[in-house]
Amino acid sequence: MAGDREQWTSKIGFILAAAGSAVGLGNIWKFPYLVGENGGAAFILLYLICIAAIGLPVVIAEILIGRTAQQNPVGSFRKLSGGNPFWMSVGFLGVLTGFIILSYYNVIAGLCLGYVVESVKGSFQGISPIQAGVIFQRFTQSSQTVIYHGLFMLLTGGIVYFGVIKGIEKSSKIMMPMLIVIILVLIVRGITLPGASRGLVYLLKPNFSLITGQTVLKALGQAFFSLSLGMGALLTYGSYLSKRDNIPTSALNIVVIDTGIALLAGFMIFPALFAMQQPPDQGEALIFNLLPPIFNYIYGGYIFRILFFVLLCLAALTSTISLLEVITTFLVDEYKFKRKTVVVIGGIVVFLLGIPSALSYNLLATIKISGLTIFGALDYLASNIFLPLGGICIALFTGWFWGRKNALVYIHEGSERTPLGLMKLWQCMVRYIAPILIALVFLNSIGII
Ligand code: PHE
Repeated sequence: MAGDREQWTSKIGFILAAAGSAVGLGNIWKFPYLVGENGGAAFILLYLICIAAIGLPVVIAEILIGRTAQQNPVGSFRKLSGGNPFWMSVGFLGVLTGFIILSYYNVIAGLCLGYVVESVKGSFQGISPIQAGVIFQRFTQSSQTVIYHGLFMLLTGGIVYFGVIKGIEKSSKIMMPMLIVIILVLIVRGITLPGASRGLVYLLKPNFSLITGQTVLKALGQAFFSLSLGMGALLTYGSYLSKRDNIPTSALNIVVIDTGIALLAGFMIFPALFAMQQPPDQGEALIFNLLPPIFNYIYGGYIFRILFFVLLCLAALTSTISLLEVITTFLVDEYKFKRKTVVVIGGIVVFLLGIPSALSYNLLATIKISGLTIFGALDYLASNIFLPLGGICIALFTGWFWGRKNALVYIHEGSERTPLGLMKLWQCMVRYIAPILIALVFLNSIGII
């Protein structure tokens, strides 16, 4: 029942929790390595275009669907489409994508937890990047990946177990500001290292010769992944939002915070990386191979290193919470299970699903799907295919199926003072610009246009 549903206790609580979902490993671990592999500034530019032209309008649409229906992703589409099976399957796809993402995302989050422990033990003191690479290999080829994956799942489950407002809102309020302060401290450290300026050039001067159709798809997939967009996480958080809140301004806040932190992560990593004369295209291992030794060149590096990995865990935690929350709300709303039972069983299922990813550097390293490890293939499928697919459906639903008038009426609630022209612009974006651009990127990446 909508009346029984918990609601965020404040507008800032919603923004912080949604931004907490958006800001995570996507910003700090994935964005830098994608930038490093795909041409630096040119990739960043493509990414920013995807965020502004597609991300922001679809974020607004997704939150709006959730707030209007006050349901989980499947229930929301059922309610607003009058039980249309196609639109309900969009909700299902979202929940499924949530399962997939959480299963491998939690493995990397666990790795970060392991790096907190290693940092405290002093394992990285005085080592070179090559030695750090050896530690990374040793770590990922041991059963520790599975153990830390399990530990991180326990942390996530613990917070979701205690409910939406008490758990998520309270923890986000403390974690988000802490995160920003620690990143800023690290940027100042990096930029003041000798030789760091080449990293700034790399981040700011675009070279388009490396850009292909696949690169554009990766930028689009990363925009969706980083914004937690296209699989019902924002929809679910929107379903706890009151009709008095202004969706467009909240969405803008979330997008600016998320994009700002990704860019800050770039400035945290590349100047320091170039100062250490290391190549940027290190793939998934980038921050694990290169950051631990970089701290050795910093006064107080031992402490800064611990802080950094704690920060990464906190950022990842607010994202894993939102992923588990989507699954939980779905099962609670649709099948009337008890929240606590769902969290326990769902947590165990996701843990088991994540084991192949946790072993994809180890026992299962030889298994390749189109040249990707199990981990890489799941990430490709979820980020570059399912999320943009969810996004195009959300845009088409809001822009066309739901009816031109409906969307405008509901978005008006709580944003009475936002000029009508801006609302119309948003509608034009979800009707035409976002779906056409996503379709073009898809077609281009498979070589059709
Ligand atoms: N946006 C999160 C990050 O950048 C990942 C995520 C994706 C979380 C999808 C929820 C849903 O780390």
